[in-house]
Amino acid sequence: MESNDIKSAKDIRLIESALEGFLPDGDCLEKNLIEAMRYSLMAGGKRIRPRLALEFSRINGGADGEIMPAACALEMIHTYSLIHDDLPCMDDDDMRRGKPSSHKQFGEATALLAGDALLTLAFKTIFSGMNSQNAVRRAKCAEILAEYSGARGMIGGQIIDLESEGKNPELKRLEIMDRKKTGCLIKAGCLMGCIGAGVCDEKKLAAAESYGECIGLAFQIVDDILDVTSTTDELGKPVGSDEMQKKATYVSLLGIEKCRETANEMTNRALACLDVFDGDKKPLRELALALARRGK
Ligand code: IPE
Ligand code: IPE
Ligand code: MG
Ligand code: MG
Ligand code: MG
Repeated sequence: MESNDIKSAKDIRLIESALEGFLPDGDCLEKNLIEAMRYSLMAGGKRIRPRLALEFSRINGGADGEIMPAACALEMIHTYSLIHDDLPCMDDDDMRRGKPSSHKQFGEATALLAGDALLTLAFKTIFSGMNSQNAVRRAKCAEILAEYSGARGMIGGQIIDLESEGKNPELKRLEIMDRKKTGCLIKAGCLMGCIGAGVCDEKKLAAAESYGECIGLAFQIVDDILDVTSTTDELGKPVGSDEMQKKATYVSLLGIEKCRETANEMTNRALACLDVFDGDKKPLRELALALARRGK
């Protein structure tokens, strides 16, 4: 990760300044809602999904400014999914990104609405700066984002997660759950990056999708490991939450060692997917490795 750190910090600043610009003005009667949207969206976070969109655009020769609306839209969807994921009716977690969760800070109703409003803002944002040249690519990105966030994507994974609580599901079911609840948004970033840069080559699109699938699964497995091995200070969210909610996770089923092996294997598979791209593969290689080794 080290050699990539400076670049990541620069990219995170780039993404955060774009995110800030897409937020509505809060000087109105709805100001509490807009404050709650800003509170969660600008609270930090690793910004992995928009960074993937940027890097997949770059490896295919795309301009950062062209992919930024889709990258920010994805981070808005991700942030909304976290606000809702923390609600008492879901994981009931009181801390997120090092601060009180949205419902702790603003109350449940406002948190619910802030999530809804971020979801809606995402689909406005993705069309920001649309013109006759990029309209088809923007529409394709919106379709990908909708597909991977929805009932057959992230939300689908969330319902499988809730319905698996207190059970001991088969590994196959857990894998489907993780590929959906976490893998799908990660995959959306990879694919939108390619589409935004004008890639039509099916082999490249399939490779980006596969890279996203593999790091997405590895990402959730590492998240499950950190829930057991890390600290709340380090993670910025409560540890031990999965056990408390009786979640079925890779760790609860396979144990930590086997989980580490699987995450490493998935990461190696992701690296192999980069072969088909002509551009500089180093940033995406380093990002995959850093995610597998991350401590938060
Ligand atoms: C947390 O995602 C939720 C999962 C899908 C595991 P991140 O670990 O990317 O959270 P932030 O964005 O850095 O806060
Ligand atoms: C999160 O899974 C998946 C989504 C938010 C879509 P987790 O419930 O494991 O995420 P954390 O651990 O609360 O961040
Ligand atoms: Mg959850
Ligand atoms: Mg959770
Ligand atoms: Mg978790």
